[in-house]
Amino acid sequence: MSEHSFRNFEIGDFDAVTALWQAAGLFLGSSDTKPGLLKKLERDPDLFFVMTDSAGQIIGCVMGTYDGRRGWINHLAVSPDRQGEGLGRLMIKELEARFRKTGCQKVNLLIEPTNAAVQTFYQRLDYSEDKLIFMEKWL
Ligand SMILES: CC(C)(COP(=O)(O)OP(=O)(O)OC[C@H]1O[C@@H](n2cnc3c(N)ncnc32)[C@H](O)[C@@H]1OP(=O)(O)O)[C@@H](O)C(=O)NCCC(=O)NCCS
Repeated sequence: MSEHSFRNFEIGDFDAVTALWQAAGLFLGSSDTKPGLLKKLERDPDLFFVMTDSAGQIIGCVMGTYDGRRGWINHLAVSPDRQGEGLGRLMIKELEARFRKTGCQKVNLLIEPTNAAVQTFYQRLDYSEDKLIFMEKWL
């Protein structure tokens, strides 16, 4: 595996990161604008980070959030040309370590029904399925 490192997301990464999320097939919502991500950086900036390769290119990104009780994983993506090398696993391990530092004891995530295959990835990392009904409301 090639060299990689982690650093916190900076707003200057906006174009590269949104391009990566789109290339990885993630659904981007109305909060994934520059002002939306600046707002996100007001909380848990250490949990929103990128993975870079030895040339400094962004090859992965994840947005973690700690709500004071649970940790949440959002928008995990590895560049399509670098998937299957164990980088996603490393990103989750790094995020879990950062969650632990905050005192977080449980991590949650949601999967789009159209992306159900990614469940196997999380199962490999000891995540289990909980049958819940997800409800939401825009304010
Ligand atoms: C999901 C994603 C981050 C995984 O990253 P990755 O670097 O390809 O995954 P890894 O190489 O670290 O894989 C870790 C393990 O999961 C398995 N795995 C990874 N993706 C898988 C998939 N789609 N289906 C089945 N198994 C998968 C690997 O085989 C590996 O298994 P191992 O424990 O036997 O080694 C990456 O595929 C991605 O960016 N997908 C598109 C975006 C996405 O769906 N994000 C998640 C939103 S909830």
